[in-house]
Amino acid sequence: MVIALAPLGSAMVEGWSRRDVELRSRLVFRSIRDQVAAGLVAPPGFDLAPFFERLSEDERILGLGFCTEAGTLRYATKQWPKAISCASLKRDRTDSFATVTDQGRRIHVSVFPIAAGPVTGHLLLLHDLAFADERARDARFYTMLSVIGVAAGLGLLALAMVLALQRSWVRSVRTMVADMRTGGVLDAAPSGDSPLGRELHGLLEELRVERTYAEGIHVEWSPKTLHRLLMEELPGAEVLVVSNREPYIHNRVDGAIALQRPASGLVSALEPVMRACGGTWIAHGSGSADRDTVDRNDRVPVPPGDPTYMLRRVWLSDEEQDGYYYGLANEGLWPLCHISFVRPIFREEDWRRYKAVNERFADAVVQEADRDDPIVLVQDYHFALLPRMIRARLPRATVITFWHIPWPNAETFSICPWREEIIDGLLGSTILGFHTRFHCNNFLEAADRFMESRIDREHASVTLGGHETMVRAYPISIEWPPSALEGQAPVADCRAAVIDRFGLPPDAHIAVGVERFDYTKGLLDRIHAVDDLLGTHPEWRGRFVYLQAASPTRSKLGAYSALQAETVRLAEQVNARHGSDDYTPVVLSIRHHEPTEVFEIFRAADLCIVSSLHDGMNLVAKEFVAARDDEQGVLVLSSFAGASRELSEALIVNPYDTRSMASAIDAALRMSTAEQRERMHLMRDMVRQRNVYRWAAQMLLDAARLRKRARILAGAA
Ligand code: G6P
Repeated sequence: MVIALAPLGSAMVEGWSRRDVELRSRLVFRSIRDQVAAGLVAPPGFDLAPFFERLSEDERILGLGFCTEAGTLRYATKQWPKAISCASLKRDRTDSFATVTDQGRRIHVSVFPIAAGPVTGHLLLLHDLAFADERARDARFYTMLSVIGVAAGLGLLALAMVLALQRSWVRSVRTMVADMRTGGVLDAAPSGDSPLGRELHGLLEELRVERTYAEGIHVEWSPKTLHRLLMEELPGAEVLVVSNREPYIHNRVDGAIALQRPASGLVSALEPVMRACGGTWIAHGSGSADRDTVDRNDRVPVPPGDPTYMLRRVWLSDEEQDGYYYGLANEGLWPLCHISFVRPIFREEDWRRYKAVNERFADAVVQEADRDDPIVLVQDYHFALLPRMIRARLPRATVITFWHIPWPNAETFSICPWREEIIDGLLGSTILGFHTRFHCNNFLEAADRFMESRIDREHASVTLGGHETMVRAYPISIEWPPSALEGQAPVADCRAAVIDRFGLPPDAHIAVGVERFDYTKGLLDRIHAVDDLLGTHPEWRGRFVYLQAASPTRSKLGAYSALQAETVRLAEQVNARHGSDDYTPVVLSIRHHEPTEVFEIFRAADLCIVSSLHDGMNLVAKEFVAARDDEQGVLVLSSFAGASRELSEALIVNPYDTRSMASAIDAALRMSTAEQRERMHLMRDMVRQRNVYRWAAQMLLDAARLRKRARILAGAA
């Protein structure tokens, strides 16, 4: 382009210079015409030559001369070029112009006719065109320079635009990739709506979904990502939850209605999930003011004050509750599934009630379902028969059953008189979940042993009567960040508050235990360990206290009331042995503790003891870790709690081994703050990543895949 533009520029300049010279020549001619004419007719002896010589001193005028009519050159100035003669020029009656080259020099010749009386001829005016050549050269140079300048400017501008565009692209791609990593929202395509942007957006989206499907481990699961997963993978799906325990209990206390958040691992896990997903939670209305707070369809929107889902209460008579809840569920299945050496009790009447209550909840599911294919999340050992009942009523439903407690080995399970019915009931599920692979294997073993079913161990599924149930491990967890941590005071203040509330020695090392008063939790074993610690390490006397926050539970049952009485008795013994008037080593707080108070207790503690004799998961261990945003505190954790598989940085103990548990408490009390930090940091990371949203997401993703597969098969059929 530069090469094309340069000659054009110089041609323009040359034309313009020539016109300039012609104009100038005319001006000169006009101004000297009369003098020259007068000179031509002047008497002999008058010479025009000196006059012409003077004029040619102008730096542009190269020479002047006069051509007679006969073609003779007269009065020519001294520097007259040889190449120019009168004969070589065209001499008309009008002005004419020519360019002549003399010794490589270009000369412009203007020829003007002139008449003075009888004398006629032509005045020749010569201009050196070197200046025009110079101008043309300059023009070429400047044209090139400006073209190069403009090109460079445009180039730089384009470069700047490309860089800015690239930067914004990289930024949006980074955001999208980061969102993808965290399972977040891929909001916009980079660079707006460009085809390339849309293409990239689509690809990343596919990748994100694939990754989520593949494992979901690196996704930061949150209410937002869980909600989004529902929207994308299960669009328009209706979610129903069924559990015995309700997430919010309304009680009448001194004439007023008080709200209670029950002490239940199931509730702490599922409630944040429901807050994220919406839907309906069907549960037993057990509070004394529950009936006063529902509408005419037995529904109440929750959470109170900021409702995001519906709680549908089912009323049970005392007989129903005795048989189904206290009897079959808690005297039969609970001890059957936990190895804690409490003999399970199976009564025919309880079984009858259990079946009837399961039917009632199946009816409630049908009533609450707006569609014929809801996703029903059936919770726990209270509803072993419900999945089959839902399948009979709503064959297109996706039933995800989660068993929150351990599943025993086939030998142990075989003592249940209704083992076949229970397994059959559970096999109505689309997916059956347990906390650990070990419990899944135990279930597969039982199905294999007691049912005419086909077990596919590779895909971990059981097919019975043409219906396949996937059996999967989904380790349950807690919400992250935990809402009970919101607004908590700094650790030192929590400590001061707890010391004050429970009357603990101001400088004491504090160990805590927080649970329901349940014989599976190893409360007695823990107090025995404290006893052993104070006996073998007397230096801790007066400097160590164990605070047990225990919520009464299922107190109607002999095993539970006996445990409570036994715990109180044992604590008194230990206090008598090691305590004094102003020192109580074991402090019991036997009442309900709301989640915020539980978190305050965790924050006040130097260590937390979770000594379950057998536990599906145990969320107290995870809550303790979640409460310690100061990364201090030691977790002493039973190897028989599912949580010990994930929280391996805890001090893992065998609660049956009193001496070693005492040593673990001692080690925890002596652990350096640096080591506490290292351990706590890793455990917090684990709980944050594997939070309850991930737990729910994994089940829902599996459900989504199965629903898609079913649709494809139905289409093919
Ligand atoms: C365990 C069970 C839950 C139950 C909770 C509290 O975590 O798995 O289903 O809700 O204990 O027991 P409760 O009998 O008071 O509901």
